[in-house]
Amino acid sequence: MTAEQEAIPHSDPAALFDAWFAEARASEPNDANAMALATATPDGAPSVRMVLLKGHGPEGFVFYTNVQSRKGQEILANRRAALLFHWKSLRRQVRIEGPLSEVTAQEADDYFHSRHPLSQLGSAASDQSRPLENRKTYLARVDELAARYDGQEIPRPLHWTGFRCLPQRIEFWLDRDNRLHERRQFNRRPDGGWSSTLLYP
Ligand SMILES: Cc1cc2nc3c(=O)[nH]c(=O)nc-3n(C[C@H](O)[C@H](O)[C@H](O)COP(=O)(O)O)c2cc1C
Repeated sequence: MTAEQEAIPHSDPAALFDAWFAEARASEPNDANAMALATATPDGAPSVRMVLLKGHGPEGFVFYTNVQSRKGQEILANRRAALLFHWKSLRRQVRIEGPLSEVTAQEADDYFHSRHPLSQLGSAASDQSRPLENRKTYLARVDELAARYDGQEIPRPLHWTGFRCLPQRIEFWLDRDNRLHERRQFNRRPDGGWSSTLLYP
């Protein structure tokens, strides 16, 4: 490919995300689905942390968490969020922005029960983002729940659920030779389609 040619396609950001994500899964040493999730308080104080992408499609990008956590409380008060993937092995970045909506109880149940039982117990026992006196206290809560639900289905805690980000903007960043990188931003049109533009890198 010559340096002048654009490498990021102009149309269909969903298909482009699928293609880049498939390449990332094949090349990243671990957690190609890890993404930074930025949330903010209603007055605009931002916070960011990693979460795992657990589903995506035309209806949005899904992750799961504890709504009593810091991020959960911020999301309940302010639905606007941003996601970021950085696939180091590919030198690529994808930025996604849009409002969050909660997944259905059925979706959350199905995903919760698809997880390893220890992961289910770990999240059921965690008061995520609240102070913990010592690690022993947390492990004792895991053991207590393991004994309580021995041989039974572990119920999904109601404060553990998922959110779906419906993208209004998606930007793809591609490393190009001599740091003359390439960026293409897709913006959702009112008719649901996408317009796109290159951005100076
Ligand atoms: C690679 C990676 C993946 C993670 N995935 C999740 C996740 O899917 N859900 C989650 O609640 N926390 C996940 N965490 C932990 C969060 O980054 C964070 O520590 C936790 O959710 C509390 O964040 P908060 O206090 O901002 O709510 C992950 C951390 C890492 C490093």
